[in-house]
Amino acid sequence: MKFNNTESYLSQNFDLESYFAAKTNIIKNELAKIINNSNVSGHLLKAMKYSLMSEGKRIRPVLCIASAESAGGKETDVLPAACAIEIIHTYSLIHDDLPAIDNDVLRRGKPTCHAAFNEATAILAGDALLTLAFQVLSSVELQNSSNALKWLKIIHSISTAAGYMGMIEGQMRDIASENSQISLNELEELHSLKTGELIIASVESGAILANASSDQITQLNIYANKIGLAFQIADDLLNVKGDPTITGKPVGTDNARKKSTYPSLLGIVESENYAKKLIKEALHALALFDNKSDPLRAIALYIIERKR
Ligand code: IPE
Ligand code: IPE
Ligand code: MG
Ligand code: MG
Repeated sequence: MKFNNTESYLSQNFDLESYFAAKTNIIKNELAKIINNSNVSGHLLKAMKYSLMSEGKRIRPVLCIASAESAGGKETDVLPAACAIEIIHTYSLIHDDLPAIDNDVLRRGKPTCHAAFNEATAILAGDALLTLAFQVLSSVELQNSSNALKWLKIIHSISTAAGYMGMIEGQMRDIASENSQISLNELEELHSLKTGELIIASVESGAILANASSDQITQLNIYANKIGLAFQIADDLLNVKGDPTITGKPVGTDNARKKSTYPSLLGIVESENYAKKLIKEALHALALFDNKSDPLRAIALYIIERKR
């Protein structure tokens, strides 16, 4: 999916590839530190590491950092939050792939956690990652509590987004929509819950920790809402016409399970056009931000052009 006039949105020739490479390297090192910082060993930790340290795009933690930077903050202000969100996301993928949910055997270019270990281990590794995320988030201000309120705010935002009012409700609706046709409005709500809420929480957390103004947070939330929906539309499209050697996950499974998706309801071209419209609106929401928001702008464009 190509977007015209991308240059007009970026104040300079912003190099997203280098930006992603630098940030994902920092995130990966921090995730490794978190997961290695325990005396526990054995099967459970092995399964947690197997999924967490596999080749994900790390888009949520990068968004968290980019959002903080757009409000004048630094990545060091938000790194534990960025990692905690990636840890929650990884748990959600492990559970999403389980036989009882999507029953997928390929994830991030490798056998899924339950395929590589076993179902019980995958359930428990997911549980352990989810709780680890909140251990990480709540550790930051244990010693020096000067920023405790900000961290409490983001714990509230992330837990709300990941739970029964957000991602889990989205997953429930996703399962319920198998083998049945739902309306476009219902699908939009499903996608926003399943994927959008955690993406919004990623951007919002970065902004809160960077002391963004309430006007900035409002605009960043609009941006995140739009890119979150576009991200899931792109995911649906990749399930139809992606290359599994690039996406690292199977193709055609939504259709096989008769899932309601954007391409199944709107068709491919209409879905692409809708995603492009959302990205335009996301970029518009950043109109008053300066070039510190170029990473966010470039990520928005990447979301619909991505092949993985
Ligand atoms: C996949 O997320 C699941 C969705 C919510 C669409 P990503 O596409 O971010 O997966 P990874 O983290 O790169 O593997
Ligand atoms: C996964 O959604 C969303 C969550 C894990 C919350 P999908 O089932 O649509 O994503 P993929 O295609 O398996 O990555
Ligand atoms: Mg699913
Ligand atoms: Mg799935």
